[in-house]
Amino acid sequence: MAEAIAAGVAEAAGSEAVLKKAFDTLAADIRACDAVVFCSPEYFGYMSGAIKDLFDRTYEELRDDPRSVKKPCCIVVSAGNDGTGAVRQIERLCKGYNFKKVQHPIISKGPVTDATLAHCRELGATLAEGINAKIF
Ligand SMILES: Cc1cc2nc3c(=O)[nH]c(=O)nc-3n(C[C@H](O)[C@H](O)[C@H](O)COP(=O)(O)O)c2cc1C
Repeated sequence: MAEAIAAGVAEAAGSEAVLKKAFDTLAADIRACDAVVFCSPEYFGYMSGAIKDLFDRTYEELRDDPRSVKKPCCIVVSAGNDGTGAVRQIERLCKGYNFKKVQHPIISKGPVTDATLAHCRELGATLAEGINAKIF
């Protein structure tokens, strides 16, 4: 799903997505990008531990940083049959960071379908075009 988003971003002129694993991501990475998409599986009704770790490590540094406040943000969750718990908790944290939600979350339930991948691709393209057009 993350790769499909990146492919969508690449459709917009001059845009590029950087795919980073949560454990390898630093506050500086979030500061430096124009938008961020958090991609997580739902585990036990919550986000993955790796995504939670990213939030734990970067919150204090970023919550009042003008280079991160109002950063366009989207959420994508892969779940077995639900996904709402992970989305709800990531949304709460994104509010704490003062990120700007620019699209509804995408939730995949069960095996990822071609339709979901198309939706992810569209999300990436819309996000990149919106940033290029200074809509977000
Ligand atoms: C430890 C564990 C906990 C899970 N908990 C949930 C859950 O609470 N709700 C749900 O819908 N799916 C749950 N699942 C299913 C995963 O969300 C689903 O398989 C997801 O696509 C996994 O993505 P991944 O392959 O990137 O790890 C769980 C899977 C595992 C391994």
